[in-house]
Amino acid sequence: MVSMNNLSSEKPMLQALRGQVTQYTPIWLMRQAGRYLPEYRALRAEAGSFLKLCYNPSMAVEITLQPLRRFDLDAAILFSDILVIPHALGQGLDFVEGEGPILPPLETLADFDLLDISGFEQKLAPVYETLSRLKEQLPPEKTLIGFAGAPWTVACYMLHGRGGGKFERATETAAADPQGFKTFLLKLADVTADYLISQIKHGADTVQIFDSWAALVPDEYFHDRIIAPTARIVSAIKAVYPDVPIIGFPRQAGRHYADYAGQTGISALGLDPQADISAMPKNICLQGNLDPQLLLTGGEDMQRAVTRIMDAASGRPFIFNLGHGVIKETPPEHVAALISLVRQYKRAI
Ligand code: CP3
Repeated sequence: MVSMNNLSSEKPMLQALRGQVTQYTPIWLMRQAGRYLPEYRALRAEAGSFLKLCYNPSMAVEITLQPLRRFDLDAAILFSDILVIPHALGQGLDFVEGEGPILPPLETLADFDLLDISGFEQKLAPVYETLSRLKEQLPPEKTLIGFAGAPWTVACYMLHGRGGGKFERATETAAADPQGFKTFLLKLADVTADYLISQIKHGADTVQIFDSWAALVPDEYFHDRIIAPTARIVSAIKAVYPDVPIIGFPRQAGRHYADYAGQTGISALGLDPQADISAMPKNICLQGNLDPQLLLTGGEDMQRAVTRIMDAASGRPFIFNLGHGVIKETPPEHVAALISLVRQYKRAI
């Protein structure tokens, strides 16, 4: 429901997520913590490995807060990764310098049932501890975002073992046994829902579901592989926390955005740079859309794009963000410039 009520003392980002059209536009950036910040690179070098950072609450808290010390952002996003789920299920995981994540791929769908789920919550305890500490340390106007990968995107890595290509081992496994694959994704959805519910219990104000590889799913399977598993996660969370808003990010979902927004039960739709704001469903909060390449370039091109996005989003609940993560070569000064552009823009409400 879209409303014009701007009097609430609620955090600005939560107001937008609840459907309020506000003059002030909240802003945060996907991958706002990370390699473009020298203070991240220093701590990363000290820890020695990316996974050690994710599972060390003191370091993860520090990295989560680094971008908020520099910039006037409206939200902190938990520092972790979508692949801690397969890792906590007992599938090996390594982040190799220059290559990204590497997992020993599942050979068949049945291998999923052989994973040892018993230690799951215990292995993720440091992530929950990170959230509890962040909750205590964040000022009241800042929103704390938890997250997980959507089942399809996580399955891509679990079955293919690495990123880079088009996840052929995942798409071929799905094509060979669509029914079995559907069941596999729903099992992954249940684990993901438990994980997100625990994140909320430990302080997350909202959670985002990243479906980075949604565009690899053929149209006829978009419902089974993207919408249905996401809807299952949303309804499991809503059964416990009916008032916690959930952000869905089905990257490059093309003509499926409206169905995704209407059928999953999410409160906000994350938009990649290709998505056309004016063509999006009207009754939902939108987030994102700025091409990360323009943040890298900065200057007038970025300024024009900010104006175009803010104009297109006028009169609707909106959270400013990129259409994908911050590129590691981005100068931090461009982030500061982006935030002041968004702050200066006066929205018509
Ligand atoms: O947004 C944030 O600041 C929160 C932290 C966060 C990370 N990854 C940290 C990270 C979040 C929300 C993610 C999500 C994630 N992880 C996604 C979905 C979003 C997207 O980018 O499409 C995916 C697909 C992953 C899997 C993943 N993790 C890949 C493919 C890689 C290697 C590529 C890369 O950018 O290095 C990672 C590593 C990773 N996750 C890093 C960070 C800061 C870099 C690690 C390092 O070398 O220091």
